[in-house]
Amino acid sequence: METSLNVDEIDSIKAHGLKDLASAGSDKELDDWRVKFLGRKGLLTIALRSLVSLEPSERQKIGSLANKTKEDLLNEFQSRKSQITAVQSSDIDSSHFDVTLPGTKLSLGKLHPTTQIIREICSIFEGMGFSVVEGPEIEWDEYNFQKLNIPKNHPARDMWNTFWVAEEDSSGNQMLLRTHTSPMQARIMETNAPPVRVIVPGKCYRYEATDATHESQFYQIEGLAVDKNITFANLKGTLYQFARQLFGENRRVRFRCDYFPFVEPGVDMSIDCFACQGKAVGCRICASTGWVEIMGAGMVHPAVLESAGYDPSVYTGFAFGLGPERIGMLKYGIEDIRMFYENDCRFLEMF
Ligand code: PHE
Repeated sequence: METSLNVDEIDSIKAHGLKDLASAGSDKELDDWRVKFLGRKGLLTIALRSLVSLEPSERQKIGSLANKTKEDLLNEFQSRKSQITAVQSSDIDSSHFDVTLPGTKLSLGKLHPTTQIIREICSIFEGMGFSVVEGPEIEWDEYNFQKLNIPKNHPARDMWNTFWVAEEDSSGNQMLLRTHTSPMQARIMETNAPPVRVIVPGKCYRYEATDATHESQFYQIEGLAVDKNITFANLKGTLYQFARQLFGENRRVRFRCDYFPFVEPGVDMSIDCFACQGKAVGCRICASTGWVEIMGAGMVHPAVLESAGYDPSVYTGFAFGLGPERIGMLKYGIEDIRMFYENDCRFLEMF
């Protein structure tokens, strides 16, 4: 027996449909809902089909209600669907955020290789009780030369090609760009009573053509130790210890006579080549000599002590000077000193 379609039945399909729709939360559930209510065999479709069995007057009334209901449910379905899509796409943003991915790298600057080398060298000497001090890059002839036992017109001045900053003034003083850090020996002794143990890093300038091993602007690190009873053995022991810390425990050192007007005796210090271990065969670092020179040094000349106000019959000391770029070149196998100051990031980022 056919049940005749009525208003209540359509209202109840609608109420039922709206309730189910509100709880549909995924594409699958939405699709099931659409099949159940609006599909070919859906509840409302079946209801509409049974309209034919109604009286014409009823049919019109119930029919328009059923069509209106179908339209309403369809509208609700569409808006529920777009609601769910919106939620899903906002879910995609957060669910696709991979917290395990490495972060975007910030490009931070870093210390220049020269700075790194200077700090490393200074900290080795600091470990041996030296203090770090700095001095002026624009110097007087007096400090750069005269107080270092290099009088005016002395031929030893040829060892330092000098950038003069100004003409000699009326009292015979002349300014220059310091050619080495040694003027700080005089400045420190003038302003400090012995004992003295200092290390002086700083920029120096020389008026000369640049090549793979020479720059007109470069760094030096000066060392000075003055006290009673300081001997050449202290110089050797200190510098040997330094070489082993910087270049490795097994380093051997060699001292040979050299001339600097402000030391007596003066030496140059070499270490056995760390690249070929002193074997000296086909080695570019030591030019197959087995040795690489790393600094000049010596016992502070009595005339230098005296001109700074120290009594050379009571005090003795040693001094040394080294070029951190050259040490860096040896340590890292850098073939051209000019690379340090070309500001090529590919080079700078290697350190
Ligand atoms: N100042 C010297 C130079 O520039 C190096 C040096 C320093 C040598 C101290 C001996 C002692 O060549």
